[in-house]
Amino acid sequence: MDVYEAIARRRDVRSEFNGSLVGEAQLWRVLEAAHCAPSVGNTQPWDFVVIQDRTVLSLFAEHVSGCRADFARSLPAERAATFGPIVVEGIEQAGTGVVVTYQSNRGGAHVLGRHTIDETGRLSVGLAIQNLWLAATAEGLGVGWVSFYRPEFLRGLIGVPPTVDVVAWLCLGPVTQLQTVPDLERFGWRTRRPLADAVHREAYRGDPAPS
Ligand SMILES: Cc1cc2nc3c(=O)[nH]c(=O)nc-3n(C[C@H](O)[C@H](O)[C@H](O)COP(=O)(O)O)c2cc1C
Repeated sequence: MDVYEAIARRRDVRSEFNGSLVGEAQLWRVLEAAHCAPSVGNTQPWDFVVIQDRTVLSLFAEHVSGCRADFARSLPAERAATFGPIVVEGIEQAGTGVVVTYQSNRGGAHVLGRHTIDETGRLSVGLAIQNLWLAATAEGLGVGWVSFYRPEFLRGLIGVPPTVDVVAWLCLGPVTQLQTVPDLERFGWRTRRPLADAVHREAYRGDPAPS
Protein backbone atom coordinates (compact mmCIF):
# COMPACT_ATOMS: atom_id res chain seq x y z
CA MET A 1 0.00 0.00 0.00
CA ASP A 2 1.49 3.37 -0.92
CA VAL A 3 1.24 6.37 1.35
CA TYR A 4 -1.67 7.98 -0.52
CA GLU A 5 -3.66 4.78 -0.32
CA ALA A 6 -2.97 4.46 3.41
CA ILE A 7 -4.05 8.08 3.93
CA ALA A 8 -7.25 7.51 1.97
CA ARG A 9 -8.10 4.19 3.67
CA ARG A 10 -7.29 5.23 7.26
CA ARG A 11 -10.37 5.38 9.46
CA ASP A 12 -11.09 5.96 13.10
CA VAL A 13 -12.25 2.49 14.19
CA ARG A 14 -14.71 1.71 16.97
CA SER A 15 -16.97 -1.16 15.92
CA GLU A 16 -14.87 -3.13 13.44
CA PHE A 17 -12.24 -4.75 15.71
CA ASN A 18 -12.43 -8.51 15.09
CA GLY A 19 -11.50 -9.62 18.59
CA SER A 20 -8.05 -11.04 17.85
CA LEU A 21 -4.90 -9.48 19.25
CA VAL A 22 -2.36 -7.54 17.21
CA GLY A 23 0.77 -9.63 16.59
CA GLU A 24 3.92 -8.64 18.45
CA ALA A 25 5.91 -8.02 15.24
CA GLN A 26 3.13 -5.83 13.82
CA LEU A 27 2.90 -3.93 17.09
CA TRP A 28 6.61 -3.12 16.98
CA ARG A 29 6.42 -2.08 13.33
CA VAL A 30 3.69 0.48 13.98
CA LEU A 31 5.50 1.74 17.08
CA GLU A 32 8.67 2.06 14.99
CA ALA A 33 6.69 4.14 12.46
CA ALA A 34 5.42 6.37 15.27
CA HIS A 35 8.94 6.76 16.62
CA CYS A 36 10.16 7.92 13.17
CA ALA A 37 7.99 11.06 13.35
CA PRO A 38 9.47 14.55 13.11
CA SER A 39 9.65 16.46 16.39
CA VAL A 40 10.51 19.97 17.46
CA GLY A 41 14.21 20.22 18.31
CA ASN A 42 14.38 16.44 17.64
CA THR A 43 13.11 16.04 21.20
CA GLN A 44 11.02 12.92 20.45
CA PRO A 45 8.86 13.90 23.43
CA TRP A 46 6.59 10.84 23.21
CA ASP A 47 6.39 7.51 25.04
CA PHE A 48 4.07 4.62 24.28
CA VAL A 49 2.47 2.57 27.06
CA VAL A 50 1.09 -0.67 25.64
CA ILE A 51 -1.86 -2.02 27.64
CA GLN A 52 -3.18 -5.54 27.10
CA ASP A 53 -4.22 -6.45 30.65
CA ARG A 54 -7.97 -7.23 30.41
CA THR A 55 -8.64 -5.76 33.85
CA VAL A 56 -7.03 -2.43 32.95
CA LEU A 57 -8.87 -2.34 29.61
CA SER A 58 -12.13 -2.98 31.38
CA LEU A 59 -11.52 -0.31 34.04
CA PHE A 60 -10.67 2.22 31.38
CA ALA A 61 -13.72 1.29 29.27
CA GLU A 62 -15.93 1.76 32.33
CA HIS A 63 -14.46 5.21 32.97
CA VAL A 64 -14.90 6.21 29.31
CA SER A 65 -18.49 5.08 29.39
CA GLY A 66 -19.13 7.50 32.29
CA CYS A 67 -17.47 10.37 30.38
CA ARG A 68 -19.55 9.56 27.31
CA ALA A 69 -22.71 9.70 29.43
CA ASP A 70 -21.63 13.08 30.88
CA PHE A 71 -21.17 14.43 27.35
CA ALA A 72 -24.55 13.05 26.25
CA ARG A 73 -26.23 14.83 29.18
CA SER A 74 -24.56 18.13 28.18
CA LEU A 75 -26.17 18.07 24.71
CA PRO A 76 -29.39 19.72 23.57
CA ALA A 77 -32.13 17.14 22.79
CA GLU A 78 -31.65 17.08 19.02
CA ARG A 79 -27.85 16.60 19.26
CA ALA A 80 -28.30 14.01 22.00
CA ALA A 81 -30.57 12.01 19.69
CA THR A 82 -27.94 12.09 16.92
CA PHE A 83 -25.15 11.21 19.37
CA GLY A 84 -27.07 8.29 20.94
CA PRO A 85 -26.18 5.55 18.40
CA ILE A 86 -22.58 6.70 17.87
CA VAL A 87 -19.98 4.34 19.34
CA VAL A 88 -17.01 6.30 20.70
CA GLU A 89 -14.61 3.50 21.63
CA GLY A 90 -13.61 -0.11 21.04
CA ILE A 91 -11.28 -0.42 24.03
CA GLU A 92 -12.01 -4.01 25.05
CA GLN A 93 -12.75 -5.31 21.55
CA ALA A 94 -9.41 -4.01 20.24
CA GLY A 95 -7.55 -5.88 22.99
CA THR A 96 -4.64 -3.43 22.91
CA GLY A 97 -4.47 0.16 24.06
CA VAL A 98 -1.49 2.34 23.22
CA VAL A 99 -1.36 5.35 25.52
CA VAL A 100 0.76 8.07 23.97
CA THR A 101 2.34 10.55 26.38
CA TYR A 102 4.12 13.89 26.14
CA GLN A 103 7.13 14.90 28.23
CA SER A 104 7.51 18.67 27.90
CA ASN A 105 10.89 18.86 29.63
CA ARG A 106 12.56 16.43 27.23
CA GLY A 107 15.25 18.40 25.46
CA GLY A 108 15.95 20.65 28.44
CA ALA A 109 15.40 24.40 28.70
CA HIS A 110 16.48 25.30 25.17
CA VAL A 111 14.41 23.33 22.71
CA LEU A 112 15.35 24.42 19.22
CA GLY A 113 12.12 25.66 17.60
CA ARG A 114 9.88 25.74 20.68
CA HIS A 115 10.94 29.01 22.27
CA THR A 116 8.08 31.06 20.78
CA ILE A 117 5.47 28.34 20.22
CA ASP A 118 5.21 25.98 23.15
CA GLU A 119 2.55 23.79 21.52
CA THR A 120 5.08 22.51 18.96
CA GLY A 121 5.98 19.89 21.57
CA ARG A 122 2.47 18.44 21.69
CA LEU A 123 2.13 18.80 17.94
CA SER A 124 5.14 16.53 17.59
CA VAL A 125 3.29 13.87 19.59
CA GLY A 126 0.34 14.26 17.22
CA LEU A 127 2.62 13.51 14.30
CA ALA A 128 3.85 10.33 15.98
CA ILE A 129 0.22 9.29 16.41
CA GLN A 130 -0.54 9.96 12.77
CA ASN A 131 2.49 7.88 11.71
CA LEU A 132 1.26 5.04 13.89
CA TRP A 133 -2.25 5.36 12.44
CA LEU A 134 -1.07 5.22 8.83
CA ALA A 135 1.33 2.35 9.47
CA ALA A 136 -1.47 0.43 11.19
CA THR A 137 -3.69 1.02 8.15
CA ALA A 138 -0.98 -0.35 5.87
CA GLU A 139 -0.73 -3.41 8.17
CA GLY A 140 -4.50 -4.06 7.89
CA LEU A 141 -5.02 -2.96 11.50
CA GLY A 142 -7.49 -0.46 12.89
CA VAL A 143 -6.86 2.43 15.27
CA GLY A 144 -9.44 4.30 17.30
CA TRP A 145 -8.49 7.48 19.13
CA VAL A 146 -10.27 7.79 22.48
CA SER A 147 -10.39 11.14 24.24
CA PHE A 148 -13.49 10.61 26.40
CA TYR A 149 -11.46 10.34 29.62
CA ARG A 150 -10.19 12.47 32.44
CA PRO A 151 -6.40 12.68 32.14
CA GLU A 152 -5.91 12.32 35.92
CA PHE A 153 -7.84 9.05 35.89
CA LEU A 154 -5.69 7.58 33.12
CA ARG A 155 -2.51 8.86 34.75
CA GLY A 156 -3.41 7.03 37.95
CA LEU A 157 -4.56 3.88 36.15
CA ILE A 158 -1.27 3.26 34.35
CA GLY A 159 1.20 5.11 36.58
CA VAL A 160 2.21 8.06 34.40
CA PRO A 161 4.61 10.34 36.35
CA PRO A 162 3.47 13.91 37.21
CA THR A 163 5.97 15.47 34.77
CA VAL A 164 4.50 13.55 31.83
CA ASP A 165 1.10 14.23 30.21
CA VAL A 166 -1.22 11.70 28.62
CA VAL A 167 -2.18 12.74 25.09
CA ALA A 168 -4.18 9.85 23.68
CA TRP A 169 -5.49 6.35 24.22
CA LEU A 170 -5.34 4.51 20.90
CA CYS A 171 -7.28 1.28 20.47
CA LEU A 172 -5.25 -0.95 18.18
CA GLY A 173 -6.21 -4.27 16.67
CA PRO A 174 -7.08 -6.37 13.62
CA VAL A 175 -10.35 -5.40 11.95
CA THR A 176 -13.06 -7.06 9.88
CA GLN A 177 -13.09 -4.06 7.52
CA LEU A 178 -12.44 -0.32 7.42
CA GLN A 179 -15.45 1.87 6.74
CA THR A 180 -15.16 4.10 3.68
CA VAL A 181 -17.08 6.96 5.30
CA PRO A 182 -16.18 8.32 8.78
CA ASP A 183 -18.62 7.20 11.49
CA LEU A 184 -19.47 10.78 12.46
CA GLU A 185 -20.56 11.40 8.88
CA ARG A 186 -22.44 8.09 8.58
CA PHE A 187 -24.37 8.85 11.77
CA GLY A 188 -25.18 12.44 10.78
CA TRP A 189 -23.01 14.19 13.40
CA ARG A 190 -20.72 16.14 11.08
CA THR A 191 -19.53 15.86 7.49
CA ARG A 192 -16.13 16.50 5.94
CA ARG A 193 -15.44 19.96 4.45
CA PRO A 194 -14.56 20.26 0.77
CA LEU A 195 -10.84 20.85 0.31
CA ALA A 196 -11.57 23.96 -1.76
CA ASP A 197 -13.13 25.58 1.33
CA ALA A 198 -9.98 24.97 3.35
CA VAL A 199 -7.42 26.27 0.86
CA HIS A 200 -6.55 29.97 0.69
CA ARG A 201 -4.10 31.46 -1.78
CA GLU A 202 -1.63 34.24 -0.85
CA ALA A 203 -3.69 35.39 2.18
CA TYR A 204 -6.47 34.18 4.44
CA ARG A 205 -9.58 35.13 2.45
CA GLY A 206 -13.07 35.57 3.83
CA ASP A 207 -14.40 34.97 7.31
CA PRO A 208 -13.49 31.85 9.28
CA ALA A 209 -15.74 28.90 8.43
CA PRO A 210 -18.94 28.80 10.51
CA SER A 211 -18.70 26.58 13.60
C1 LIG B 1 -7.57 14.43 18.81
C2 LIG B 1 -8.63 13.42 18.43
C3 LIG B 1 -9.47 12.91 19.40
C4 LIG B 1 -10.48 11.99 19.06
N1 LIG B 1 -11.27 11.45 20.04
C5 LIG B 1 -12.21 10.54 19.72
C6 LIG B 1 -13.02 9.91 20.71
O1 LIG B 1 -12.90 10.15 21.90
N2 LIG B 1 -13.93 9.02 20.32
C7 LIG B 1 -14.12 8.72 19.00
O2 LIG B 1 -14.99 7.91 18.69
N3 LIG B 1 -13.35 9.27 18.04
C8 LIG B 1 -12.41 10.16 18.37
N4 LIG B 1 -11.62 10.70 17.38
C9 LIG B 1 -11.81 10.29 15.98
C10 LIG B 1 -12.57 11.33 15.18
O3 LIG B 1 -13.92 11.34 15.55
C11 LIG B 1 -12.40 10.98 13.71
O4 LIG B 1 -11.05 11.08 13.38
C12 LIG B 1 -13.21 11.88 12.80
O5 LIG B 1 -14.58 11.71 13.03
C13 LIG B 1 -12.93 11.62 11.32
O6 LIG B 1 -13.10 10.25 11.03
P1 LIG B 1 -11.92 9.38 10.38
O7 LIG B 1 -10.76 9.44 11.32
O8 LIG B 1 -12.49 8.00 10.25
O9 LIG B 1 -11.59 10.01 9.07
C14 LIG B 1 -10.62 11.61 17.71
C15 LIG B 1 -9.75 12.11 16.74
C16 LIG B 1 -8.75 13.00 17.09
C17 LIG B 1 -7.81 13.50 16.01
